Amino acid sequence: MNLGNLALTFLGHATFAVKTPAGKHWIIDPWLEQNPACPSQWKHPAQVDTLLVTHAHFDHIGDCLKLALSHGATVIGIVETVHWLQKKGVKNAIGFNKGGTIEHQGVRVSMTHAVHSCGISDGDQILYGGEAAGFVLTFDNGVRLYHAGDTALFSDMKLIGELYKPDIACLPIGDYYTMDPVQAAHAIRLLGTKIVVPMHYGTFPALSGTPQRLRELTKDIAGLQIIDLKPGETLTGELKRLVPAGA
Ligand code: NI
Ligand code: MN
Repeated sequence: MNLGNLALTFLGHATFAVKTPAGKHWIIDPWLEQNPACPSQWKHPAQVDTLLVTHAHFDHIGDCLKLALSHGATVIGIVETVHWLQKKGVKNAIGFNKGGTIEHQGVRVSMTHAVHSCGISDGDQILYGGEAAGFVLTFDNGVRLYHAGDTALFSDMKLIGELYKPDIACLPIGDYYTMDPVQAAHAIRLLGTKIVVPMHYGTFPALSGTPQRLRELTKDIAGLQIIDLKPGETLTGELKRLVPAGA
């Protein structure tokens, strides 16, 4: 597997920075400033072109509005959550829905199902935010990345595997709000993806699933690589793992 100059940086929890092959700076599920797992040098990123949100929980959109306004970044997500962000002042936005694919800055973004909730916390209210989703990103160098968002295990992950054949899957393993390692191990079998980056674990004590447990449960799967990126680490090229300076 060669990612070329595509670079995937884990920022802790479910947050990833993606530098696209065309050099655009994307952030998936931007939760930076209050994210206890986010490295300090990433709390206020200098360049942001696009923000992808899987759903409206604070640990996925915490910095979305602020970054969209300060950088003029485009927000991509499900229609109801995007509509709320637009009402709060976001100018550039693409709201679409599950099953759909949009193209933006040379990346095809397909929205997939996720089994999770999607309320928007607005003051003391919880508003309807549509449904939680996942994304498959197809980059212009052919690499396909599945970010599952927050989700329980569901059997249609098999369809995601058949349709999109993701090269890399970012899967939640923490338990409590999402899949635990047992479900994630089953998800890997359904998807058929051979490179897995665990996420949504360890941030809080309740998120108790570990990459080690996931490895134990999947050791019979030939060719599977579970790459537990530490916050701040980047995956690029021939699955090179770049550790940030000073770490
Ligand atoms: Ni959530
Ligand atoms: Mn979450």
